[in-house]
Amino acid sequence: MDIICIIDMGSQYSHLIARRIREFGVYSEIVPFDIPINKLKKLDPKGIILSGGPSSVYETGSPKLTEGFFKYCVQENIPILGICYGLHLIIHQMGGEIIQSDKKEYGKTELEIIEQNLIFKSLARREIVWMSHGDQIKTLPEGFITLAKTDTCPIAAFENQKLSLYGVQFHPEVYHTINGKIILENFINLIAKAKRDWLLENWIDKKIQEIKDIVGDKRVILGLSGGVDSSVAAVLIHRAIGDKLYCIFVNNGLLRKDEEKEVQKQFEEKLGFKNLHYIDAEDLFLQKLKNVEDPEEKRKIIGHTFIEVFETQTHELERKNPGIEYLAQGTIYPDRIETAQTSESAAKIKSHHNLTLPPDMKLKIIEPLKDLYKDEVRNIGIKLGLDKELIERHPFPGPGLAVRVLGPIDKRGLDILREADKILLEEIKNANLYQDIWQVFCVLIPVRTVGVMGDFRTYEYICSIRAVESVDAMTANFAKLDWDLLEKIAARIINEVKGFNRVVYDISNKPPSTIEYE
Ligand code: XMP
Repeated sequence: MDIICIIDMGSQYSHLIARRIREFGVYSEIVPFDIPINKLKKLDPKGIILSGGPSSVYETGSPKLTEGFFKYCVQENIPILGICYGLHLIIHQMGGEIIQSDKKEYGKTELEIIEQNLIFKSLARREIVWMSHGDQIKTLPEGFITLAKTDTCPIAAFENQKLSLYGVQFHPEVYHTINGKIILENFINLIAKAKRDWLLENWIDKKIQEIKDIVGDKRVILGLSGGVDSSVAAVLIHRAIGDKLYCIFVNNGLLRKDEEKEVQKQFEEKLGFKNLHYIDAEDLFLQKLKNVEDPEEKRKIIGHTFIEVFETQTHELERKNPGIEYLAQGTIYPDRIETAQTSESAAKIKSHHNLTLPPDMKLKIIEPLKDLYKDEVRNIGIKLGLDKELIERHPFPGPGLAVRVLGPIDKRGLDILREADKILLEEIKNANLYQDIWQVFCVLIPVRTVGVMGDFRTYEYICSIRAVESVDAMTANFAKLDWDLLEKIAARIINEVKGFNRVVYDISNKPPSTIEYE
């Protein structure tokens, strides 16, 4: 399979570049800027993209390419595309000059294409592109030619066809560069000539065989949360080894209404899982969380209690079913590869809740989804027969409703919240808005206000509705829901849920607010 490597120079967009390449059907991987040449050789890339980054090439400690990098690429005829800082670095390391311009260029800019060579094929003479830089090229080394300019940047793109080096000062990977996809596609197709052989169908067959080969006649255990990643991992492994897969599903009492029933229905009835072990640990969790106010403390308790329950259940299963040797996890690519690290090595392991399962369990880890992006995981889930509803669910925090009932938690508050949240989701789905919204949920604000119900005064909690639009949860805008819809939802919550007599709508954006309340 052909592969394109994205060398991460500390860009917030490295994952975006990698995803764009995969959308063309070409496999891509992010590697750190200081990757040794022998490791790069093993990957044998068809092309390399140097990402942007916040540094300046003259800063001490700014990312530089390993010695021998260019020599290796030229020898092996591997084309390189430098984006922003990546472009500076090529020019700097090849003997040209980079300067700090007096004007920083940020935002949408008009690009004038001077030479419509390979990388700019099929584009217009003038294109809208997204710029974000202070430094720029002053002089090109010999053999390089200018391909484009903007009002403030006289060398906004270059090529050296002989050495197969290309560079753009702007960001083709971001949505604001209107024809950015064409530029990346030109690099992949016309310059790197990479085969489009990253097909999820092939991936599924290959992965199933791989899991069979690894596991053999042993058994695998997996913590199923009902979320997309662990669900897809479970179905994939089940396809490979059938009922030698043991799933543990812990009800921590912090789930949405009827979630535990839906998960059991999906896996047992629809997908025919024989070894799904449902554990009702609601009382234990709620008892441990009693009177706990601090959100971080809540998260810690929930994490530890989960491990405790999971471990006990695993030991019991191990006793009854000798041969459980593997622990499967739904880790995905962005969980593993943390980018935007300018110092040391960029590829670091994130402390993700998936990865903190019992270290002393002596089980070997298998992570079948570890190279996939979320949208790829979703596609695989659909192909493997998981319900679309489950696959397209909004993100839900690990600590669940514990961070949506503010302050100390009890069953009554959680039940009130579950009822309201169910109504909200029903109405959003009826209005056909669920897919357009990143996350929508209710929050219980433990402040009582006065209301009237029939002839009685009521004194109940406030329900806040949060609905946000986002692409990656890093930033989010509140969804501008229709007033009539909001009125309908509020009326239903107030009438049908005992415990709420007032509904408010949250109109804060992230940042400076966050999506969740705790
Ligand atoms: P914030 O609140 O930081 O949330 O804007 C960003 C995204 O992360 C989810 N989130 C969590 N997910 N464990 C998780 O697994 C957590 O403790 C947690 N806190 C927030 C949140 O729902 C949103 O999608």
